Amino acid sequence: VFSPVELAPRDPILGLNEAFGADTRANKVNLGVGVYCNEEGKVPLLRAVQKAEEARVAEHAARAYLPIDGLAPYDLAVQKLLFGTDSALLQSGRLITAQSLGGTGALKLGADFLYRQAEKRLVAISNPSWENHRSLFEAAGYEVVDYPYYDPATNGLNLDGMLAGLEALPEGTVVVLHACCHNPTGVDLALADWAKVIDVVTRRKHVPFLDIAYQGFGENLEDDAFAVRLFAESGLPFLIASSFSKSFSLYGERVGALTMVTANQGETAPVLSQLKRVIRTNYSNPPTHGAKVVAAVLNSPELYQLWEEELAEMRDRIRHMRIALVEKLQAAGVQTDVDFIQRQRGMFSYSGLTKEQVARLADEFGIYAVSSGRICVAALNTSNIDAVANAMAAVMKD
Ligand code: LMR
Repeated sequence: VFSPVELAPRDPILGLNEAFGADTRANKVNLGVGVYCNEEGKVPLLRAVQKAEEARVAEHAARAYLPIDGLAPYDLAVQKLLFGTDSALLQSGRLITAQSLGGTGALKLGADFLYRQAEKRLVAISNPSWENHRSLFEAAGYEVVDYPYYDPATNGLNLDGMLAGLEALPEGTVVVLHACCHNPTGVDLALADWAKVIDVVTRRKHVPFLDIAYQGFGENLEDDAFAVRLFAESGLPFLIASSFSKSFSLYGERVGALTMVTANQGETAPVLSQLKRVIRTNYSNPPTHGAKVVAAVLNSPELYQLWEEELAEMRDRIRHMRIALVEKLQAAGVQTDVDFIQRQRGMFSYSGLTKEQVARLADEFGIYAVSSGRICVAALNTSNIDAVANAMAAVMKD
């Protein structure tokens, strides 16, 4: 049974952790995976999380199964964060939220759900997109195409191309949209652009699937939810995959959610019943810890405030690292325009480094980045930034 099995390639992002782990150089730097590290180079345990965990441990609670769709106070808190506490949608009977295994788990639930329900088996992702989008939807049985997104000439958005691309897709295509902090480019739509996207999506009867894994890493929690809220106002049915991996620094707990906004109240019960079947036949029901912690923070005004402050600290530190990186690249003699690094949002910079330059960074300097040229700015700190800037400058100048 196992003899015909062929070796699969390493994962383009998580595979870098393996290569980084095997590197014996003391000054190695991992700019691959999207993980925030603090000034000491460590993944932080947020104080708000620590407080919620202390309270939880003190409870000595038994571990019964959670409901198939997850912890109810968690699901409700997710909805409030996405749509706003005063959103009419919260009372509309049109919302379904299921706790998921991170944002990836949410995407997979949505993919499996849509695949079983309809002939909607074409998915369009941005060019470029998060490496796992294509693989995940292909593994779920879809044909995956892309729509124009990034313009290398301006290091910005190709809005006209994007709108034309969405227009040209067959009616009813599932369209994956990054709600904020686009991964990998860090290039987001301006607020006015979203209305144009919604217009095309509505006319073409596409199925919008919003991916929001970095809420709070762009401007703030409210502004980063702008696209979600505009879709909510449009009255369209749509799906959202959200994640607390980054915003709560709870990567390993796999805390995310799939939210579906139905067209009317009548659709909600059947949709939820089918989603529960998808979950039950995959992993039965979700784990407890991460959702309990996140729900405790989101539902406590005091912990919520603390969390928001810590999120702002992470966001501001990343911004400072962007500014410092640009200055240091210029000081190291890079002649090409690198100011765009400061304009990009979220954890990543789409640096413009070629595949060959990325390979040289790893081979010669022990600095690991994604082969697309994406670097995780959130992994820079004052101790490693000089080495990174000098190494980048060296491979860019040759
Ligand atoms: C990333 O893009 O690096 C993160 O979303 C982590 C992952 O799962 O790929």
